[in-house]
Amino acid sequence: MTLTLSVVGCGYLGATHAACMSSLGFTVVGVDTDPEKVALLQSGKLPFYEPGLDTLLAQEMKTGRLSFTTDFSAVKNADVHFVCVGTPQSKDGLAADLTYVKSAVATIAPHLKDGALVVGKSTVPVGTAQALRAELAKSAPQADLAWNPEFLREGFAVEDTLTPNRLVVGVANDRAEEILKEVYEPVIAFGTPWIRADLPTSELVKVAANSFLATKISFINAMAEVCEAAGGDVTVLAKAIGYDPRIGNRFLQAGIGFGGGCLPKDIRAFMARAEELGAKQALEFLREIDAINLRARQRVIDVVRGELSQDLTQYKIAVLGATFKPDSDDVRDSPALDIAAQLQAAGATVVVHDPQGIEPARKRFPNLQYQEVVTDALKDADLILHLTEWKEYRQIDPAAISSLVKSKIIIDGRNMLDRTLWRKAGWKFHALGRTD
Ligand code: UDX
Repeated sequence: MTLTLSVVGCGYLGATHAACMSSLGFTVVGVDTDPEKVALLQSGKLPFYEPGLDTLLAQEMKTGRLSFTTDFSAVKNADVHFVCVGTPQSKDGLAADLTYVKSAVATIAPHLKDGALVVGKSTVPVGTAQALRAELAKSAPQADLAWNPEFLREGFAVEDTLTPNRLVVGVANDRAEEILKEVYEPVIAFGTPWIRADLPTSELVKVAANSFLATKISFINAMAEVCEAAGGDVTVLAKAIGYDPRIGNRFLQAGIGFGGGCLPKDIRAFMARAEELGAKQALEFLREIDAINLRARQRVIDVVRGELSQDLTQYKIAVLGATFKPDSDDVRDSPALDIAAQLQAAGATVVVHDPQGIEPARKRFPNLQYQEVVTDALKDADLILHLTEWKEYRQIDPAAISSLVKSKIIIDGRNMLDRTLWRKAGWKFHALGRTD
């Protein structure tokens, strides 16, 4: 008999997981405490932007296999329960806030049937799974708990869920592994590597992967700083080192650095946990990774001041991009928005454009100005900042917009625009890590 699944927490990760699992043929119930989110999902609409997921969700709702509710007792028929709630940075420190994970497991515990398997997908500090499993052994001894970290990237959520580059399961026994193999059978069938780990290792895999990615980005941004000091070009440097297969060319895009709901908070939570475990020194380097990342934002602001003036009060700056990366409407810890807000705080008039992120950005920074149309944002600008590499910004014709702005100065914070094209059209073009 096919397994029935529940997904607890229908945010970015949960909504994606629920729709994808339904598309594999499972009956899936998604539960969340937020009635607005649930109502939207139940009507087949996404509460956020993610390419391809809107269509998949609408399609799966029609099959009758997928449903969403705020009633947690609806999980009672499920064999496997995926916990997909958030673990944000806590308000008073670097550590992750585990309130939602703990409460999710506690809330479903009374509804778990005999032999049910709770599977955590949220990113948690190492040791959490073992502690939750011990809790569950008391509150619902008929059930078991495993961990199955998620590596999906925003913008590629469906692809990363249905065709991941690996599946990692943290289990305490063979039975839990067998159940998870049954769930992922269609994914395993096309050769996805399957890694069985113990509970702590599975939790560590996720934070180690994100720490490595963050390190790669900060490494190239450190090289950008050196290139600026030495008269080099970081884009050429990245290309040249990337040909070495041991290094690889991915995640070597120098610019204003990483943001989002994962990388920044995960490296901080990892440091906090290592300290608790007495292994603080091992992760000291992550402090530097974080510092390099935040410095990239300051470097852009320094270039702006160098171009305009130390006193920005008389100047209008057009900011292209608010989200932390393209093909997403996520503005959590967005370097672009942070830079926009800092410039505004310094007295500049800042007008922000983004293809998808204006509303979420407005919620966070209601005092910034926003424009839905790029050319409206550029009007009378003294300087343009290209901060999120949406495709539509690469399609801007620099000659065509010349008459809109007050001065033809652009700073490419993502090293993605065609410098030759802009210069040919008479623009002063700056990019991070490139001196000429
Ligand atoms: C990340 C991990 O990639 C994913 O595996 C994990 O599950 C969640 O966290 P995501 O947050 O969607 O995914 O974004 P990612 O594509 O990793 O980019 C993170 C940030 O790094 C973005 O702000 C991006 O602009 C920046 N970045 C990425 C760079 O500055 N340079 C690069 O070369 C790559």
